[in-house]
Amino acid sequence: MPNTRIGFGVVLSTALIAGLWFVTPGLTQEKKDKPALTKKEEELRTFMRKKLEACNQVLEGLVTEDGAMVVAGAKALNELSSAEKWRVSNDVVYRQFSEEFTRTTKKLQTAAEKENFDDVALKWIDATMSCVECHKWVRGMRIAKP
Ligand code: HEC
Repeated sequence: MPNTRIGFGVVLSTALIAGLWFVTPGLTQEKKDKPALTKKEEELRTFMRKKLEACNQVLEGLVTEDGAMVVAGAKALNELSSAEKWRVSNDVVYRQFSEEFTRTTKKLQTAAEKENFDDVALKWIDATMSCVECHKWVRGMRIAKP
């Protein structure tokens, strides 16, 4: 009996590996079809993606009630939004979105410093909405471009 079990395990893992083998080339193929990013776009992307790490920090701090962790994440987000690289557009609307995000992350930081986690949660929702709204706008602008 134990032998059949092992046998089944082997068949199953082989099937899984074979499955991956088929799926992986499909994924890489899809990537190849997309136009390659320029070096500048790649840099901007790396910079913008730093927001994700900071968000993780904030969220982890929020759910574990670790004020210092939220402060660190909020500060990182605040600094990113004040950096030169963030200013990808001089459009008034983009500037407004940016300023609002900078203000919200500051409020998030203050709430975390006070260890007021109910307020941290609210400010975190504001910050997340701010991400979504700006991105929506940025995408719209892209479509509008020739
Ligand atoms: C003021 C506008 C604005 C706000 C607010 C904003 N972003 Fe962005 N984000 C951008 C722009 C502009 C880009 C670059 C878009 C492009 O050209 O690819 C970007 C890119 C990104 C990318 C990279 C996407 C990719 O192509 O890999 C991620 C991830 C991201 N933002 C996450 C966030 C998160 C999370 C938040 C909120 C904490 C946030 N952003 C808030 C403007 C904003």
